[in-house]
Amino acid sequence: MDKNIRIEKCEDRQEPPKDEELSFGRTFTDHMFVMDYEEEQGWYDPRIVPYSPLEIDPAAAFCHYGQTTFEGLKAYRTEDDRILLFRPEKNAERFNNSNERMCICQMDPDFFVEAVKKTVQVDKNWVPAKPGTALYIRPFTIATEIYLGLKPSSRYKFIIIMSPVAAYYDQGIKPTKIYVETDFVRASKGGTGMAKTGGNYAGSLKAQAEAAEMGYDEVLWLDGNNREFVEEVGAMNVFFKINGKIITPSLEGTILPGITRDSVITILEDWGMEVEERKIKIEEVAEAYKSGDLEEAFGTGTAAIISPIGTLSWQDMEMEINNGETGEVASKLYDKLIGIQTGKIEDPYDWTVEV
Ligand code: PLP
Ligand code: COI
Repeated sequence: MDKNIRIEKCEDRQEPPKDEELSFGRTFTDHMFVMDYEEEQGWYDPRIVPYSPLEIDPAAAFCHYGQTTFEGLKAYRTEDDRILLFRPEKNAERFNNSNERMCICQMDPDFFVEAVKKTVQVDKNWVPAKPGTALYIRPFTIATEIYLGLKPSSRYKFIIIMSPVAAYYDQGIKPTKIYVETDFVRASKGGTGMAKTGGNYAGSLKAQAEAAEMGYDEVLWLDGNNREFVEEVGAMNVFFKINGKIITPSLEGTILPGITRDSVITILEDWGMEVEERKIKIEEVAEAYKSGDLEEAFGTGTAAIISPIGTLSWQDMEMEINNGETGEVASKLYDKLIGIQTGKIEDPYDWTVEV
């Protein structure tokens, strides 16, 4: 493919919102990246163009059968005004894994990173500087073949849009209230749980809406077979600190292999903490709570960063963890991760990539 990215700049740029006014994912930058795919041609015409609505044929496959994938990563502004991405090659790798599962064509991972970098460069004035803010980058693919039969599409569009953001949860980094879902399930063995694809999220909305109605921020999913084992939270992986040990569900194909999860495991192990990646029953969490051994719980994710869990509600048990306060490990991890991501502290892992 021709990897020259054509750039068509917009004529009247908008003023980015003030850092203090940012929320999550409602404002978009001046430009977007677009590239098309056709079976005979492969990927073609990579371009950065003014942000604008798409013209989509109503018979396009993704409108009906949800053949889509997406990624999420962030660009951070350092104190000395450089712009850093965090492990973008891991997003490229996961994107291709999701694409493989969803029968969507692969993309050269180096070109994925190059496209992200170039798009950020064009809109670099949109990268906010205030601690806790970042430019959220959303690459995604949609199946665009015009056909109502059920089969993998022969045409796709790959797009990158970007949004300056603050914390994902309205309460910022304060502890969240999580409802353990015992009725609906998000994924099961052999399904699409490990892929970042729209249907996983669409299917989760009902449980999330019901939990929100009851005053919770998110749901914690249990396994699809028996609702016995902990899986993940709506937009993050989950960790527990039980009796000094850190435990997180192992990757069994039903949860998203989080890049923050992977980074957190590396950091914790470097701190000399014991980390177990294994199946964990919700009952084990509840027992640990009852015996006073459940010291902390927190979620990890690009949007959510490190998000302490203050309350976990399972059946008729309301577990208030660490008195509803942010725990020591979650707080240290937040500082370390954000420190590396924003270039404030040394990056011994070579995780950051300058734009
Ligand atoms: N689990 C789900 C369902 C998610 O949507 C996300 C967010 O991307 C995560 C976990 C965390 O993944 P990451 O740390 O790569 O952002
Ligand atoms: C992310 O953290 O990047 C995600 O994709 C989660 C999404 C629900 C905002």
